[in-house]
Amino acid sequence: MEIREITLEELDTEKLIAEKVEEISSTVGDGLAINALSGGVDSSVVTMLGHKALGNRFKSYFIDNALMREGEPEYIVSLFKDLGVTVEIADAEKTFFEALKGLTDPEEKREAITSSFYKDIFAQLVKDTGAKYLLQGTNYTDIEETVAGIKRQHNILEQIGIDPEEMYGYKILEPLIQLRKSAIREVAKAVGLPEEIFNRPPFPGPALATRVIGEVTPERVKIVRGATRIVDEELSNIGAFQYLAILHDDKVTGIREGKRDYGLQIEIRCWESTDAKIGSPTRLPYDVLDRLAERLTTEVPGVVSVTYNITKKPPSTIEAI
Ligand code: XMP
Repeated sequence: MEIREITLEELDTEKLIAEKVEEISSTVGDGLAINALSGGVDSSVVTMLGHKALGNRFKSYFIDNALMREGEPEYIVSLFKDLGVTVEIADAEKTFFEALKGLTDPEEKREAITSSFYKDIFAQLVKDTGAKYLLQGTNYTDIEETVAGIKRQHNILEQIGIDPEEMYGYKILEPLIQLRKSAIREVAKAVGLPEEIFNRPPFPGPALATRVIGEVTPERVKIVRGATRIVDEELSNIGAFQYLAILHDDKVTGIREGKRDYGLQIEIRCWESTDAKIGSPTRLPYDVLDRLAERLTTEVPGVVSVTYNITKKPPSTIEAI
């Protein structure tokens, strides 16, 4: 199926919202639909559209795969509660760590995450609730990157030959598939989401697993989660498109209290971009970099080296995995 992009310039937010609400409502009929809310702008918009279209025939879940940022499940549940939308937390820690065990290849890790989401978690939720439809926030850039063979985005199925109904037993609706991030932010604003959501930096579906080079274990996720909190605290007021901390697989020789300390390396990336298709590194002030190095090496156990990535996308991508 050919998907046509709706550009920011041609977007009529009210019209799009009305059309998508109508589409969801008529497709799902008197049945039930579910979605997974990650707290990113895309899934947040889908949650609002599903809620508007279906009311209590729509159930939203926060999949707690243990790869999310610190305090995220509680924060998102409470924010949506204030908007009148109930979000249930689905515990999925064991499923994801088991699927990721022993994997180091980036595409194999992505495949394991996709399969855990669709085959294990969503299939079970669909079975438990009786839902026939899964609503998800796939966007135009996700499709483009997967089709171009750059990265397999966690939410792409049809474009790589997977029929979700045949494979997993439910249908998927993707109301944002024609939009890029900048257009989705406009829809987010129009659908009543607060600024902390519509202006939130993107966060990938496979979550912190995209920022762990090598095997994704609970211990290594804990390290990158700690580093992410510090990077978020230091860079949230910079106005960048996205910023992240990456845990490297290889160690380097450091020195602590006069002794050799063979320790961990954290790489920081901070991006200027509008739609994640291309990007360039933010020219961060040196005192900000200095503070990041100081905090990461003192507050995250085992870190002896901090680097700042100065590469553009392309040839880099935004996430490490
Ligand atoms: P890359 O790393 O491909 O990232 O340059 C482009 C944008 O997409 C986000 N990203 C993802 N989002 N599922 C998502 O929902 C994914 O599998 C995924 N991989 C990357 C990334 O954070 C950036 O904003």
